[in-house]
Amino acid sequence: MSDLQKLAVRHLWMHFTRMGSYEHGELPVIVRGDGCYVYDEAGNRYLDGLSALYCVNIGHGRAELGEVAQRQIAELGFYTNWSYAHPRSIELAAKIASLAPGDLNRVFFTSGGSEAVESAWKLAKAYHAACGRPRKHKIISRYLAYHGTSMGALTATGLPPLREPFEPLTPGGRHVPNTNSYRWPADRDPMWAADAIEEAILFEGPDTVAAVILEPVQNGGGCFVPQDGYFQRVRDICDRYDVLLISDEVICAWGRIGHWLGCQRYDYLPDMITTAKGITSAYAPMGAVIATDRIAEPFLHGTASFIHGFTFGGHPVSSAIALANIEIMERERLCEHVRSREAAFREMLDSLRDLPIVGDVRGVGYFCAIELVKDKGTKETFDDQESEELLRGFLSGELYRRGLICRADDRGDPIVQLSPPLIADTEQFEEIEAVLRPVLTEAWERIVKRRPAAGLGSH
Ligand SMILES: Cc1ncc(COP(=O)(O)O)c(C=O)c1O
Repeated sequence: MSDLQKLAVRHLWMHFTRMGSYEHGELPVIVRGDGCYVYDEAGNRYLDGLSALYCVNIGHGRAELGEVAQRQIAELGFYTNWSYAHPRSIELAAKIASLAPGDLNRVFFTSGGSEAVESAWKLAKAYHAACGRPRKHKIISRYLAYHGTSMGALTATGLPPLREPFEPLTPGGRHVPNTNSYRWPADRDPMWAADAIEEAILFEGPDTVAAVILEPVQNGGGCFVPQDGYFQRVRDICDRYDVLLISDEVICAWGRIGHWLGCQRYDYLPDMITTAKGITSAYAPMGAVIATDRIAEPFLHGTASFIHGFTFGGHPVSSAIALANIEIMERERLCEHVRSREAAFREMLDSLRDLPIVGDVRGVGYFCAIELVKDKGTKETFDDQESEELLRGFLSGELYRRGLICRADDRGDPIVQLSPPLIADTEQFEEIEAVLRPVLTEAWERIVKRRPAAGLGSH
């Protein structure tokens, strides 16, 4: 173990991490990044197929962002947005408004995604109260969706293992089916999941429901895309019952699915967008709620105010970096790049469908997942023990060992998820395939083929 690894094992509390697994093992310490790649202490190179948790959209090692930060710190290292403004957050709010569709013109900055979700829910409640509808307080979200970990955001999160240890959560959360149609019956109405939102609103009582929060493409469970017309139907339902539509674009904005904002891909207009991660390509922490003029209106006059804030919301250094990040994306036409190369990315992933373990490939832009199955014919998935063995016992470690960082996850059914920096191109797609193909082949042999006696499927 290196000195850094020893210190980490002794002192660093890692997030969502079984720290016990590093007591004697090799804890990955990433020390440097360059483009689509990162390097560990020993100098090993990894293709960052997850953009460091869907964050580093413009790629690693952009020294010009360091210069931007240095200039901003020399000019004004910090001032708050509580009662004061400063140039960079003003300029960034105006820039975001110019890129956002419709009248999404008002930006409330936060330090990250959970704070953005928390803020959007509070804003929905405050907006309804200001409009004379004080009973509207509930939030509807989807099964398996991840909306963050603070208590309000966790209430929207639809993953029982993340929620149960912290119950009771904030009252008012309700969950509905997501759009994963992989196992839907062939004759199911494509609007089934959208209509389930109306059923939930009616069941809860429309006068109690404040908002629906949905990602354009749902991350939790593995890149669930919406059915054609899904968001148009949801928009109609929300309008019918005075329920606000929040588009949670903590991942799906800033080019991830080929557009500045994810809702532009599916052509719907939310009342609020929550975002974070790629807004600065994570060169500094930042999140935001982008609200329409209609939502902001009740808070702009007389003695009214939105009684909510975070010290670091709109931090000048983060704002300067976000502006420079957007400028780089514009200069390098990264949204256009994703739109023009996503078919090649997808084709590479689809080529893996000949492997017996690959059940489904889904997603859009540079945001895709492969669902792993025990039996392609029946779409049978793995049980908990098999999944543990498959993902944590083999795949995560083996992919990393072979130089590919991606997400092997079983918050829903087991998936491998890929979300490379937006600068990725053919060379990286080929590298991803060159690692995934042998590793997924071996996974199948280890977990399924060699264990028929244990009652597992055989091929
Ligand atoms: C859709 C979505 N919402 C909210 C969050 C929470 O963001 P953060 O981890 O910055 O608090 C995430 C994080 O991955 C996310 O993917």
